[in-house]
Amino acid sequence: MHSKKQISHDECQETADWLMSQTKHRPQVAIICGSGLGMLADTLKCQVSFAYSDIPGFPQSTVQGHAGRLVFGELKEKTCVCMQGRFHMYEGHSLSKTTFPVRVFKLLGVETLIVTNAAGSLADDLQPGDIMIIKDHVNFPGLVGLNPLSGPNNDEFGPRFPAMSGCYDKGLRCLAMEIAKQQGIASLMQEGVYAMVGGPNFETIAEAKLLYRLGVDAVGMSTAPEVVVAAHCGLRVFGLSLITNKVVKSYEDSDSVSHEGVLSASQLRSHTVQQLVIDLIGRMEIN
Ligand code: 6GU
Repeated sequence: MHSKKQISHDECQETADWLMSQTKHRPQVAIICGSGLGMLADTLKCQVSFAYSDIPGFPQSTVQGHAGRLVFGELKEKTCVCMQGRFHMYEGHSLSKTTFPVRVFKLLGVETLIVTNAAGSLADDLQPGDIMIIKDHVNFPGLVGLNPLSGPNNDEFGPRFPAMSGCYDKGLRCLAMEIAKQQGIASLMQEGVYAMVGGPNFETIAEAKLLYRLGVDAVGMSTAPEVVVAAHCGLRVFGLSLITNKVVKSYEDSDSVSHEGVLSASQLRSHTVQQLVIDLIGRMEIN
């Protein structure tokens, strides 16, 4: 399952070459859409899309709410590629499969990766419907060795021991906050720390209390592996968590979280998240 077998540079190149033979789009920005947030892809102009099942080397997405298409197109004069549906560790994919698209994006010429996810909040001041700009992450699977970079290092992509400080680009975080103010949604937004857990079960109350005491603001089951691989190969990264629910952290609380609840809550705010990402792409500088 979680094999340490790395996917070779050649395999990533083959997929990138195939995509470049199928479309003239040469994306500068890649977007990985979280649960219920895939509609962004539908706003791209001059769309060219591929089902994951038709792309040589691509894994298949198995989760409801994640469509499983790669969509190329133009957004605000920038060329983008959008993953409508991502891969998760809990689906049984190896982490190198989970993060394979990120390396393909790098080979397509992408310079900036935007990641979105649906997450549960631990922070007292983060409510369902709020949007958290990811300032940093805690990669729980990574801390115990479930890391997409495990195994022989692929020097063509990056160094053996990549730094992760500063992996969520400060300039993009500031720009996003500025845009949020202009859009009148600043009251919904704050920066915070995202923690990835392996899933697929949601947290026990004891686990939720642990995360809370560690200072984690929001928790989810994705994003960290893709960001680690992106930082390794030198992509600029911006991440957003849409808060879909409060994590239950009291034995007195009778609420309980469900995937359906997460999806419907993320759909309620998907347009707001979409507008923010669109304006961010419009205003970001590209080299
Ligand atoms: Cl409460 N936990 C986790 N692990 N992921 C989530 C979530 C909670 N809510 C949305 N995604």
